Amino acid sequence: MKRLFCVAMIVGMVAMLSVGASAQVKKGKSRVLTTKQMMTGLIKPNCAGIGEGLKAAPADDKAWDDLATKAALLNESSFILMDDGRCPDGEWANASKALQDGSANVLAKIEAKDYAGAQEAFKGVTGSCAACHKAHKK
Ligand code: HEC
Repeated sequence: MKRLFCVAMIVGMVAMLSVGASAQVKKGKSRVLTTKQMMTGLIKPNCAGIGEGLKAAPADDKAWDDLATKAALLNESSFILMDDGRCPDGEWANASKALQDGSANVLAKIEAKDYAGAQEAFKGVTGSCAACHKAHKK
């Protein structure tokens, strides 16, 4: 039993090291965009823009369209997070999927001009940020 535990430990450590060596996290394998640039230039502004835009019910079609664009860009960013070998582990993958689903839900509510629904769905988006940051943002 003890021996089995040791073997499991070693296998676990080797797995962690190899993930560490191949994990990109800060950048993809071949493309130039760093994770930090993606966060500051794409993900944060669109997320903050939705948060701001949902503080009060959007006034007109233009305001709803603007929110739809932001939600769609956030949704696209969830795919970029999984691309180019950037994803290191399951926590990253789950958080990216939560961002993907959350932003798609927000977009659906925006397209239906459902203000309360969009506010509620937006919680799924911000939850995904927190989940990935807890595991991977140093
Ligand atoms: C799948 C993982 C993941 C998800 C999801 C994620 N982030 Fe990040 N984020 C990171 C990592 C990793 C860093 C640290 C990047 C670095 O410093 O190299 C980071 C850093 C940041 C930073 C700091 C950038 C800087 O200037 O150092 C901001 C702001 C940020 N994220 C916003 C967000 C917001 C808002 C969301 C949700 C809409 C989000 N992130 C979702 C992984 C993620």
